[in-house]
Amino acid sequence: MRQRLVMGNWKMNGNLRSNSDLLSAIARAEPESAQVVVCPPFPYLAQAQSVLSNTPIQWGAQDISLYEKGAYTGEVSVGMLNDFACQWVIVGHSERRAYHAETSDTVAAKAKIALQHGLTPVVCVGELLSEREEGRTLSVIEAQLSPVLALGTEVVKALVIAYEPVWAIGTGLTATPEQAQEVHAFIRQLLSRIGAEQVRIVYGGSVKANNASRLFSMPDIDGALVGGAALDAKEFLAIVAA
Ligand code: G3H
Repeated sequence: MRQRLVMGNWKMNGNLRSNSDLLSAIARAEPESAQVVVCPPFPYLAQAQSVLSNTPIQWGAQDISLYEKGAYTGEVSVGMLNDFACQWVIVGHSERRAYHAETSDTVAAKAKIALQHGLTPVVCVGELLSEREEGRTLSVIEAQLSPVLALGTEVVKALVIAYEPVWAIGTGLTATPEQAQEVHAFIRQLLSRIGAEQVRIVYGGSVKANNASRLFSMPDIDGALVGGAALDAKEFLAIVAA
């Protein structure tokens, strides 16, 4: 049985005051069976740690440096995330790939360093609208995952994959459950080639309280990576309940 995972990616939103309200509301949640994680911006990880310690809710970061330490201005290392008891980190989000030129090789290296230091990486993959329209969705996903799968079965078994079609992120255009399932099943097939078919695959892209149940009813969708809706406690917790 794969445990459900609902993860909130706050992206570059919030401030001390709004986070305090959001974290307190989420801290009161008692998720029955799902694992629940929130990923605030780096400066607020200490705040998340302080509010969420001793609750079932976990916290993580939205990115990580490839390097352990040194002259990398603006970067945040895995050791720094360990200092704030992060258990999770998102790697390869499409916004990192698009605005920070992250390649799939970089993403795989980030996943590796995260795992070496006890964090669970959530590796994001997803196609552009043009790639879908050209019928290239599955080949794009396979190429994005290839350096990650090359890390080997034991490494891959310890991570989570997020399928996030780029055209569905922040647009209100959710993939239909059938569209998402098709890609999730394909990813699971790739995973099964290396004996890692039990890896969790979550869906992201305009997940809301009103579409979560249908997405979660699909056999290969193990949860969600939620953006906009994760900034509203009621909406986020309704997705967790779904
Ligand atoms: O990481 C989350 C995804 O980018 C989804 O964002 O729910 O705002 O579409 P969204």
